[in-house]
Amino acid sequence: MSILPHGGVLVHRICGAEERQEWLERAKTLPTLTISRRTLSDLECIATGVFSPLTGFMGEEDYRSVRDQMRLADGTVWSLPIILPVPEEAEGIREGSTVALRGADQRVYAVIEVESLYRVDPEQEARAVFQTTDPAHPGVSRLYQTSPLYAGGPIRLLSTPDHGVFSDDWYEPAQTRKLFRERGWKRVVGFQTRNPVHRAHEYIQKSALETVDGLFLNPLVGETKEDDIPAEVRLQSYRAILDHYYPKDRVFFGVYPAAMRYAGPREALLHALARKNYGCTHFIVGRDHAGVGDYYGTYDSQKIFSQFREEELGITPLFFEHSFFCRRCDGMASFKTCPHPEEDHVVLSGTKVRKMLKEAIQPPPEFSRPEVVDVLIRGLKKRIIN
Ligand code: ADX
Repeated sequence: MSILPHGGVLVHRICGAEERQEWLERAKTLPTLTISRRTLSDLECIATGVFSPLTGFMGEEDYRSVRDQMRLADGTVWSLPIILPVPEEAEGIREGSTVALRGADQRVYAVIEVESLYRVDPEQEARAVFQTTDPAHPGVSRLYQTSPLYAGGPIRLLSTPDHGVFSDDWYEPAQTRKLFRERGWKRVVGFQTRNPVHRAHEYIQKSALETVDGLFLNPLVGETKEDDIPAEVRLQSYRAILDHYYPKDRVFFGVYPAAMRYAGPREALLHALARKNYGCTHFIVGRDHAGVGDYYGTYDSQKIFSQFREEELGITPLFFEHSFFCRRCDGMASFKTCPHPEEDHVVLSGTKVRKMLKEAIQPPPEFSRPEVVDVLIRGLKKRIIN
């Protein structure tokens, strides 16, 4: 028996061939909304069950309840609004209408039955979700550029987006659940990242793996902020580290389609629930998970889990302290396990590392595996040239 999805049932909102044809025909006469790349990734997460129990974009009742209480209207724990913004000038969209959702490529990806059309206060949402109204925060800035008119209702996915270079590593929760079962893994730990796997990541992943059956390395490949390392470049680095440093029969690699929100604690909670839907029993939360700048305390993303009962989360968070290579310990350690002063620790900020890599300067092997560094420097250089 594998772990239950969040809310008890794995959502599947992808049309079969016949139904799809019917909807595509109907879509020709329906009002249409063009959606962003981020909304498209949310759509896919809903349709494939990554966001179970959501069956569509949130209506007003769920939205308010999530924003104010971190629960859906029926009480299920949920921490971030998953919403469909509607431009003010959009035509034909009202409660009761069925709307075709198109990508920027003009392809019809889905239909939504609009049950709720509502206007929100972006500042109130920012304060609740991001704990700041500062437009310098990337999530807040994004929110302020988004229409405050939202449409909610159940969706049906008609076409799966093209996954490009990620196609080989793209799995739906139903597939990962089956794969974990086939491997005989009862306890699976999920790992989220928007970065390459550096030594600290490897250390906490492997520490966790010591006590469970398998590791699901599940980096986010949806939209991230400009200065994060692009997912296509990271992909090569994951392959490199998996080839050289991970046991194949204990690690499963697949990408996580959603966009990064940079919402710190609330996003850590969503990240855990999504991994529960993929079939993970445990989820790693380290230092400043999903954080950005100094907006959140180092361990706020861990503390948020204590606001909920174990059974309503249904996945066990595994917390890790700030980890690093310690020269005196001569190995990886954390503030919890290392007695030595900070000058013995090899610590580099994300910003510093990104700058080094872009300038083709190698971070030390205590910080990042040389195989990973090589691939990243090459990948970033290629992007600059192209
Ligand atoms: S993010 O998705 O949470 O923004 P990031 O790559 O920074 O991505 O971190 C991935 C996971 O590793 C998070 O759980 C984070 O808390 C943890 N982590 C990153 N660096 C460290 C570190 N040096 N020590 C402990 N945990 C870390």
